[in-house]
Amino acid sequence: MENPVENAKRLAAFKAVDNHVVNGVIGIGSGSTVVYAVERLAQRVREEGLEVICVPSSFQAKQLIIQHGLKLGDLEMHPELKVTIDGADESDLQLTLIKGGGGCLTQEKILASCAEEFIVIADYRKASENLGEQWSKGIPVEVIPSAYRAVYQKIEKTLGGKSELRMSGSSKAGPVVTDNGNFILDWNFQTVMNWKDVETSLNMIPGVVENGLFVGMARKAYFGMSDGSVMERT
Ligand code: A5P
Repeated sequence: MENPVENAKRLAAFKAVDNHVVNGVIGIGSGSTVVYAVERLAQRVREEGLEVICVPSSFQAKQLIIQHGLKLGDLEMHPELKVTIDGADESDLQLTLIKGGGGCLTQEKILASCAEEFIVIADYRKASENLGEQWSKGIPVEVIPSAYRAVYQKIEKTLGGKSELRMSGSSKAGPVVTDNGNFILDWNFQTVMNWKDVETSLNMIPGVVENGLFVGMARKAYFGMSDGSVMERT
């Protein structure tokens, strides 16, 4: 594979699937790195007879599972997962994550919380010392549509920074609508903060469904590097 970023994603995903997946129920995150994790899972099912049921975190993840012929499950049937594997937009040294670049943060956080182990896979661009060094788009906040303006104002008043309603771009006029029928605010914070407090403060604002800060959830992160190695952080 020529592209160093794609190669890095693939390396991280394959290593995580090899090291952490055994027979059982697996949470499948969303995004472009998870594509490689599902590819490797399908390979292991074919070649080793691995027996997994995959619970998706999004429409995209569900499609991936179906396309690869893997067994599809849901949280209603399987509320306890062995492991959840997911990408991240950024991870600091403590494995505090920003997630939700693809708008699927709420289901992703639910799946992370239901797993015995939550494992992160990413390319080298996502590893930082402090949040905000690599990911410049801010922290995604999923909001009930009618409350977006009120939430926006409350975030700015209590936490500072600036929020933007995420727009669809050229494919559709208007805002991005999540798999849950909600909007996304991208909150650009100004400085490094106590992320656990921020996560709680954001979720206390009426109208907020969930936010993309994942604090103290990840057990381990695998970062594919540009030299073909994989950096592990715990
Ligand atoms: C989806 O909402 C996100 O949380 C993704 O997991 C995250 O954006 C990482 O995506 P990539 O694997 O595409 O970088």
